[in-house]
Amino acid sequence: MAMDKILIEGGKRLEGTVRASGAKNAALPAMTAALLADGVTTIRNVPRLRDIQAMGDLLEILGCRFQMEEDVLRVDARGASSFEAPYDIVRKMRASIYVLGPLLARFGKARVSLPGGCSIGDRPIDLHVRGMRSLGARVELKHGYIVAEADSLRGAEVDLVGPRGSSVGATVNVLAAASLARGVTRILGAAKEPEVAEFARILQGMGARVEGAGTRTLTVEGVDRLEGGEFSIIPDRIEAGTFLMAAAITGGRVTVTGCVPSHMESTLEALKRANVQVEAEDDSVIAAGTAPIKPIELVTGPYPEFPTDMQAQITALLCLARGVSRLTDHIYPDRFIHVRELIRLGARITRIGAQVEIVGVDGLSGAPVMASDLRASAALVLAGLAAQGVTQVLRVYHIDRGYEQIERKLSSLGARIWREKE
Ligand code: EPU
Repeated sequence: MAMDKILIEGGKRLEGTVRASGAKNAALPAMTAALLADGVTTIRNVPRLRDIQAMGDLLEILGCRFQMEEDVLRVDARGASSFEAPYDIVRKMRASIYVLGPLLARFGKARVSLPGGCSIGDRPIDLHVRGMRSLGARVELKHGYIVAEADSLRGAEVDLVGPRGSSVGATVNVLAAASLARGVTRILGAAKEPEVAEFARILQGMGARVEGAGTRTLTVEGVDRLEGGEFSIIPDRIEAGTFLMAAAITGGRVTVTGCVPSHMESTLEALKRANVQVEAEDDSVIAAGTAPIKPIELVTGPYPEFPTDMQAQITALLCLARGVSRLTDHIYPDRFIHVRELIRLGARITRIGAQVEIVGVDGLSGAPVMASDLRASAALVLAGLAAQGVTQVLRVYHIDRGYEQIERKLSSLGARIWREKE
């Protein structure tokens, strides 16, 4: 694999308008929903990302036909013939576990490689297993695989309350499996993320009977079959939030269009507390950085709380606040690999367990840094936009997993940012 790096010459104020892409984390489950259809599923507004390609590869391994043109993706699942998601794909993309429920519903069998840990920490699967068992599946962990089997799935009460709150992935898997189960399923402690609500709406569009989308309790009445359909993916609230932070960290002014401000309330609220001017309109948000950035205290949590997927980016912003900020990630208590890299750029951060203390500094200075995961790379790019001199972000393939053409989008706002071979 050719490795790219991103170079940023910091210190330019970002100005202008940028459009949010479709949400990676809504598109990935939508692609797995296609596995349930007795037909062709068309999905629009799909971002062109490595993770989307990886999920497409997985669908092909499972026997589907997969095609992507511009931002439109087609999945024909009629020929699906395999029920195994191999390690080779799962280790590259944890969202592969989202095929567990659909495979079990479709084949009565599923073999999905265990995800293991990753650079953001543990990725447990107990809630996925509990969910499938509640619907009557036998589930075993064997040879590094989750092996699930059910002669027929039966609707049931499924409790998905986990030690760290709700689980997006487990909710998606249970929703998928319950849609084709016999009888009624009630999911308690469901995730309320907009991407989960979107998944429920997509299933409804395919003929599923789901109630309560966007709430803690979902009710699913199983049907015999689901049809393909045509869907459009919601905007990426994390990408949009990242651009707002780019405005804030450079003292610039950026309008993000094509987004849903109501999906981003906790992020907008945090930015306001940090003294960033934020104005939300129907489908756009304007952020303007005003000096000084103020320190804040922040805790991540399940939606509608502050998203763990914005934690690294706001850490970068708070490096330049006037005062001491404290930030706790309860969702992924080990998601702090960016901290060491930010320190190389001149940040003052100390970590104790799941909390970091950020002592604001007057400026950052460019240096080579290493991207370790998707959101960490975004944080390093943000820091680079504000740093004096040139920042090189190495192993940038991580960022291509989840940000569509990030350097082009930031260039269009006036950033000096470009890509080179490593
Ligand atoms: N959890 C359990 N047991 C489980 C599953 C999860 O304890 O069986 C815990 C996790 O350890 C975590 C919490 O529950 O503390 C939430 O995990 P969740 O299952 O909700 O996460 P996920 O479905 O694996 C999605 C996103 C992540 C995002 C998380 C949290 C996709 C494809 N991935 O993952 O996105 O961080 O929700 O919001 O939607 C990213 O885009 O960079 C990313 C990592």
